[in-house]
Amino acid sequence: MFEQRNGILFIGGCSSLDLAASFGTPLYVMDETVIRENCRSYLAAFAAYPAAEVLYASKACMNRSICRIIEEEGLSLDVVSGGELHTALAVGYPPQRIYFHGSNKTLAEMEYALEAGIGCFVVDSGRELNLLSGLASRRGRAARLLLRVTPGIEAHTHEFIRTGQLDSKFGFPLATGQAMEAVEQALRLPFLELAGVHCHIGSQILDTEPFVLAAEVMLDFLAQVRAKTGSALTVLDLGGGLGIHYVDEDDPPTIAAYAASIVAKVREKTEALGLPTPRLLVEPGRSIVGEAGVTLYSVGTIKEIPGVRTYLSVDGGMGDNPRHALYGSRYRALLANKAGFAPRMRVTVAGRHCESGDILIRNLELPAAAEGDILAVLATGAYNYSMSSNYNRFPRPAMVLVGGGRAELIVRRETYADLEALDLVPDRLGAGRPTALPAAGEE
Ligand SMILES: Cc1ncc(COP(=O)(O)O)c(C=O)c1O
Repeated sequence: MFEQRNGILFIGGCSSLDLAASFGTPLYVMDETVIRENCRSYLAAFAAYPAAEVLYASKACMNRSICRIIEEEGLSLDVVSGGELHTALAVGYPPQRIYFHGSNKTLAEMEYALEAGIGCFVVDSGRELNLLSGLASRRGRAARLLLRVTPGIEAHTHEFIRTGQLDSKFGFPLATGQAMEAVEQALRLPFLELAGVHCHIGSQILDTEPFVLAAEVMLDFLAQVRAKTGSALTVLDLGGGLGIHYVDEDDPPTIAAYAASIVAKVREKTEALGLPTPRLLVEPGRSIVGEAGVTLYSVGTIKEIPGVRTYLSVDGGMGDNPRHALYGSRYRALLANKAGFAPRMRVTVAGRHCESGDILIRNLELPAAAEGDILAVLATGAYNYSMSSNYNRFPRPAMVLVGGGRAELIVRRETYADLEALDLVPDRLGAGRPTALPAAGEE
């Protein structure tokens, strides 16, 4: 994906300096080849299993072009909102391949999804079961669903992104008996077709062990369901969560190793329990798009506090990447115009938002940096653009898709006009007379 030519970083065959000059900074750069290769690795890794389905968790990075690539690669899609669903439908994603997640879906979203004919709901609560049954009854057509179960497994990631443990807003806990009650409720309610169960035990998991454990616990649960209700549920969805390489210490399992460990456990366990081979689903997000992304920033103020630290400020920050501020996430980065140069300084990369916590990277070793340098932060393809905000009314960056030396804009940069486009001013406040706008004011 990366190359260095005469001290310049190339991404997908494109000079990062040309990208920055043509499209401006901050700039999200996505390498199409990496996304496609990751999709293919997932499909190949599960190909030997009789019935597997790989869903892209679109929350990681969603826009129309990314969605087209995922669709072309033959993955199914996990959406968690009417907005993600709408984007998928807008580019012709086959609705049967769409799974609708979310811990508090609105009635309107559920109606929209039913109307669109999506393949499956992943239901998180008794309220949703009742709502779905009611909506499906009115339409006279059964709705297919999985139940989200919290299996009580703690994956070793940051606490805020653990979702499988008992104390979670997501899903029906196994330990309290609520998961079994939900199965019984789903089997009882009319116009519901309960296909199976789902769990998601966390994110940025760097070990196969928690996934294997989750498979084991969930298959035990399927056996209990069969014993208690007589129903053999046929779908086991193990969620997403495979980690990626953010910093040097991260050593994630390969997609192939991850899949092999799960498949081996599912085979062994279903045989031991005498269960039919389930349809196996996984929902990767980060491991499809994370390492495909690089964010380019221009370096601005460099503030040295002797004996304390040096802040290197860039023209973006928590608005385009809130992950360090939210979770303390770590990144590696380099100066794209001084690639391969020896480190000369240690800096803390700060954004330009009005928050002391607006930090992107702490203690980064860089060559001698100067205003105007281009900083390339690596592995920003997941949960950056999709978690971005307009805090301080900074327009969101553009996104460019690169590959084979070609660069195409897939999300245009927001403008000041975009920022005010949704504002309404009640008549009683008057329209105000716009100050004459200086032509060069635009970002
Ligand atoms: C239900 C569910 N599935 C899949 C994912 C994707 O996880 P990841 O991007 O870590 O693969 C998430 C992420 O939060 C999730 O909540």
